[in-house]
Order: sequence, then structure tokens, then C-alpha cells
Amino acid sequence: MTTGRFITVEGIDGAGKSSHLEFLASAIRARGVEAVVTREPGGTPLGERLRELVLHEAMDGTTEALLMFAARREHLVRVIEPALARGAWVLSDRFSDATYAYQCGGRGLDRAVFRALEGLVHPARQPDATFLFDIDPQVAAERQRAQSRTPDKFEREAGDFFGRVRDAYLERAAASPGRFRVIDASGSLEDVRGRLAQAFAAAFP
Ligand code: TMP
Repeated sequence: MTTGRFITVEGIDGAGKSSHLEFLASAIRARGVEAVVTREPGGTPLGERLRELVLHEAMDGTTEALLMFAARREHLVRVIEPALARGAWVLSDRFSDATYAYQCGGRGLDRAVFRALEGLVHPARQPDATFLFDIDPQVAAERQRAQSRTPDKFEREAGDFFGRVRDAYLERAAASPGRFRVIDASGSLEDVRGRLAQAFAAAFP
């Protein structure tokens, strides 16, 4: 049996990360390993219900962070840890770096509160690799506008919100250079996929 691996993808809304999840899952399966594709907030029945609330209800920033971590705890205990224990590779569309970026960077949540919640919810678990899709917030906003669906609460954020989220992601990446691979997410889907394929091969030779 292989050792499980925990891989996350991150980036601001409109960075395009979700378009590459199936590609990454195929790259994992090509190694003959089980790939579990999941997301946050969500990934469990309770987590998906919490997702509905945090994406559509107005709430205090600390409440928002607490609900993100509540959903995360369920996700870890019911999905992520059992999958890793049986040797699967878990690919999650977002994890705690998103809380750092959106709630600390975007909303101004105290980083000490974030660290306390992270220490409570997953004291001994961090992703083995994180692919951060980095893009100029203006380019991301144009991509979002080109989609016809109704934006959620975060996607409706204006001003410099996504500039702050992006900066917090980059700050977090700089603090853990061994774990993060920053992907330039500008250009065509094919261009980005090429960069991602290279980064994945380098992370998991
Ligand atoms: P998604 O659109 O990539 O599925 O993410 C849902 C939204 O939730 C996205 O705008 C980012 C936000 N989010 C947070 O603000 N904090 C978190 O901890 C997570 C996981 C997501």
C-alpha cells in the first residue's frame, strides 16, 4: 500500500483552479493510486449545509471563520483522515490556507485567532503540497463576469478585497516554501495546465 498524500489547490475566486481538479485527479490515478476529490467548505453532508450558509448569509467575520473550521473538522475526521489512512491521495479544492487568505487577509480576522483555530482543528495535519493559482484580481474579475451564473457572497466582494486575499495567500506561501507551489494562472487554460503539470511532476517525482 502507498502512503496517502494530502494535496490542496487554492487561489482567489476566478483564478480557475477548479478547472484543473480532474486533470490532477487523473495524474494521481495514472500512478495507480486512489484519488479522493473533495472541497471546502463542504466535503461532507454537514459541511455542504454549512457551505450554503457561509456562501449566502451575511455574518460577522469571526462567525464565518468558526463555521469554516467547523466544516473543516467534519471533513478531516470523516473524509480526509480515513482516506489518507487507507493510502488514498486526497485532493481538496481549498483548505485552511483559504481561511487565512479570505478571513484574515480579506476580512481582517486576527492571525492569532486563526492560528488558535488551526491548532485546535488540525494540530498535526497540513497538506503535503499546495498548488496556489496566482492571478491579478482584475483578470480574475473579468473571468468571473464572463460566467453567467449568479455570484455568491464572496464573489460579490468589491474594492481591494481580492487584492488583500491574494497578498495573504502569497504571504502564507512565502512562509511555507516547501509546501507551496505558486502557479501563474494568467493566460489560456492550456498554458496554465502546462505549468501545473510541471509543478505536479516536480512536487511528486
Ligand atoms: P469555491 O468557490 O472555490 O468553492 O470557494 C467558496 C468560497 O468560500 C470562496 O469564495 C472562498 C470562500 N472560503 C473562505 O472564505 N474561507 C475558507 O476557509 C474557504 C474554504 C472558502
